[in-house]
Amino acid sequence: MTQQYQNYIGGRWVDARSGARFERENPATGAITGSYPRSQSEDARDAACAAAEAQRAWARLPAPRRGEILFRAGEILVRKKEQFARELTEEMGKVIKEARGDIQEAIDMTYFMAGEGRRLYGQTTPSELPDKFAMSVRAPVGVVGAITPWNFPMAIPSWKIMPALIAGNAVVFKPSQFAPKSAWNLVKTLEEAGLPPGVLNLVFGEGAEAGAAIIEHPAVSLISFTGSNAVGTQIAVRCAQLGKPVSLEMGGKNAIIVLDDADLKLALDGAIWSAFGTTGQRCTAASRIIVQDGVYEAFAEQLVARAKSLRLGDGLDDATDVGPVVNQQQLEKIASYMPVGRDEGATLACGGGRADGDELGRGYFFQPTVFVDAKPWMRIAQEEIFGPVTALIRVGDLDEAIEVNNRVPYGLSSSIYTRDVNKAFRAVERIDTGLVYVNAGTIGAEVHLPFGGTRGTGNGHREAGIAALETFTEWKTVYVDYSGKLQRAQIDVAGEGMAP
Ligand code: UN1
Repeated sequence: MTQQYQNYIGGRWVDARSGARFERENPATGAITGSYPRSQSEDARDAACAAAEAQRAWARLPAPRRGEILFRAGEILVRKKEQFARELTEEMGKVIKEARGDIQEAIDMTYFMAGEGRRLYGQTTPSELPDKFAMSVRAPVGVVGAITPWNFPMAIPSWKIMPALIAGNAVVFKPSQFAPKSAWNLVKTLEEAGLPPGVLNLVFGEGAEAGAAIIEHPAVSLISFTGSNAVGTQIAVRCAQLGKPVSLEMGGKNAIIVLDDADLKLALDGAIWSAFGTTGQRCTAASRIIVQDGVYEAFAEQLVARAKSLRLGDGLDDATDVGPVVNQQQLEKIASYMPVGRDEGATLACGGGRADGDELGRGYFFQPTVFVDAKPWMRIAQEEIFGPVTALIRVGDLDEAIEVNNRVPYGLSSSIYTRDVNKAFRAVERIDTGLVYVNAGTIGAEVHLPFGGTRGTGNGHREAGIAALETFTEWKTVYVDYSGKLQRAQIDVAGEGMAP
């Protein structure tokens, strides 16, 4: 029988008030992996109210004590890593090695933010007046609405939930309906670690229903969203009307630049990993490879040969290189770009269609695909496809490469392969993306550094690192005047006959 999971609201596991449910399937096999509440606005309301009620006491608990709960959660994640990784692969398809990495990223973030419990640094600074003390401290925002995608179903929620919690916020968490079990595992872990009831609430369902209701609820003071640019933009508009701060992490159209002097073998390894790892379903995936003239032919030939040799299959099989895409809708979206690329004049060098056969036919498998001779203006080189598809673009020199790299609607990640340190630094300076890699692919960000991007990728915020705390805290500036008399800033000059 299908396992029935529940929402977690105010410390209790409950169904949606309507009783409605949805099922998730394994994208590699079609097997049902679980049944989850299809929540509506009344469930979002319950969660928001529970969070608001729990938040004050949580904020009063000293941050180092909050950190202890996070440390315990980290230990549970370590202990259950293998089980959680397998369940993650079963619900969204990524290969097991990468699923372990997804859990590890959540572990890293949990420990990192647990440590912040003993830092959460503000500033102290001299006052311009005598006998007066000036400092700034971080205060919680209140209730955070966290809306997350399916592609990093344990890591991305941890990027939002852990910094929100350590800063003294309560959270209403709405995970993607395509990866609900990982969300359940993460919330269960925090419950087991001793998080007080109501501090973290889990509401399953669809973005347009449960997600929208969380955004609307007046008790929710801030929204943190990762997902598509189309949805993120709508959320930003609504949050502006509601006067709510919103942190957006959206798409990418990331490129690897390969210069003539690059270590070609290294660049190929990076390109294969960045373009086809996670079946291309990372916002950091390399969906463009910008190659200098002198090595273009050799690089293209070897890349296509390597792409053709990748093994598609169930992610639980250790021999699999590339798992399925997440669902039918993604499969169709990716397939729709094949005629687009050909009609625009790019050459399909390998892949280009759904993979079939007895086993692969049951899942949503798409062949690793390489377009060669793409032009920078083509839709396949401008739009986020979010699948195992990459496009090779030929350029004459570094300046042209940087120009092509920057001229897309997104600005998340970039990479350059070169042995010339001058060229590498010139690229680092001129590339307009939030992440830049030298002699490494476009994926693989670490949790203690800021993560995010420019232009259509975000709205100026960063996740991860201590940068994340900027989103999840408000600055509170505190002045303590111990002079015992009226002192007027900007008016009284210390040492001269002071007022009144
Ligand atoms: C994402 O694809 O949304 O840098 C996140 C990386 C991972 C995170 C990706 N650490 O590719």
